Amino acid sequence: MNRIPHETSGEPNPFRSVTLDRLRRRTSMKWRTYPADVLPLWVAEMDVPLAEPVVRAVTDALALGDTGYPAGTAYARALARFAAERWGWHGLAVERCAIVPDVMMGVVEMVRLVTGPGDPVVVNPPVYPPFFQFLAHMDRRIAQAPLGADGRLDLGVLEEAYRRAVAGGGRAAHLLCSPHNPTGTVHTAEELAAVAALAERYGVRVVADEIHAPLTAAGVDFVPYLSVPGAGSGLSLMSASKAWNLAGLKAALAVAGPGAAAELARLPEEVSHGPSHVGVLAHTAALSEGTAWLDALLAALDAHRLLLAELLAEHLPGVRYRPGESTYLAWLDCRALGLGDDPAAVFLKRGRVALSHGPDFGTGGAGHVRLNLATSPEILTEGVRRMAAALR
Ligand SMILES: Cc1ncc(COP(=O)(O)O)c(C=O)c1O
Repeated sequence: MNRIPHETSGEPNPFRSVTLDRLRRRTSMKWRTYPADVLPLWVAEMDVPLAEPVVRAVTDALALGDTGYPAGTAYARALARFAAERWGWHGLAVERCAIVPDVMMGVVEMVRLVTGPGDPVVVNPPVYPPFFQFLAHMDRRIAQAPLGADGRLDLGVLEEAYRRAVAGGGRAAHLLCSPHNPTGTVHTAEELAAVAALAERYGVRVVADEIHAPLTAAGVDFVPYLSVPGAGSGLSLMSASKAWNLAGLKAALAVAGPGAAAELARLPEEVSHGPSHVGVLAHTAALSEGTAWLDALLAALDAHRLLLAELLAEHLPGVRYRPGESTYLAWLDCRALGLGDDPAAVFLKRGRVALSHGPDFGTGGAGHVRLNLATSPEILTEGVRRMAAALR
């Protein structure tokens, strides 16, 4: 494992060069869903300028008119190199990768490959809300195996969910969020190996959403699900989109373990028509040339987790915050504030700050909000000030 200390990248802090005026000129979901007097700290978009290699790859493509259909395996090869260098994982086989439009479309397609309509899919709430919506839309039955009070997988609860899921005789899957959104939990090698063992015992197929994988806090190692013993029948979705802020440049990768290669090979060809060629170029550049930028981002996020803890202690001591081991999302337990199940609604109405609504994350979400830390220290400070103002 070649752990890279976050503080030594030499790149400038990407949050230092953004101003609120400039951010408000953006037209994406984060900036256009709420009126201009609301400070948006919700959806997982980052307030950063893009990494220079990404800008160069995209502008070179535009200058050249290189805006046709995607071809080749450069994205998968860049991910394989990144996985080897960052996570010490040398098992990502390019021939077992497929490009998909984005991670959630990849999730849908992978779940479709290993289950049928009406089959159960286990999820671990509180979890990324679209998991519920996308699975329901594709007619899968959602089985909840909530995280423990410590924000980690509860293997006893998971085993019971697997047992019930397969009891009906259908094909069951487990949509694993790794690292976990919203808690930022990074599953350990032991936890993942235990999941793989349970999956093997019960015949459950694991689909791991690993979109937040590059975003670990200092001193925390991400472990790819497919790298643990016994996980060979699993599938993973990876992308540069969260770590380099490329959601608008559609492209992600589905990765199969050796025991899932035959299924991935059955992925209908039309799925590979969804990713944008320019998106593939951007993601490839991010993974292969954007690591110094990523390290500067990670160092800044380490500082933001500390800053948020300080701000909450000073202005909102009733809020419980356990700084996450990864992601730029903070999961805040606001139950002691007495704001009911949906504190984000109160913070929005009275504080004019937009946070993600806890109840949308399923069991365990009531009384919580999710705050997006990927902004400047000034905006983060103003966000907490507005939350505190909502209580007065
Ligand atoms: C866990 C998780 N999966 C998927 C997504 C969405 O990814 P994409 O835009 O590639 O579908 C997000 C976005 O925040 C996420 O947090």
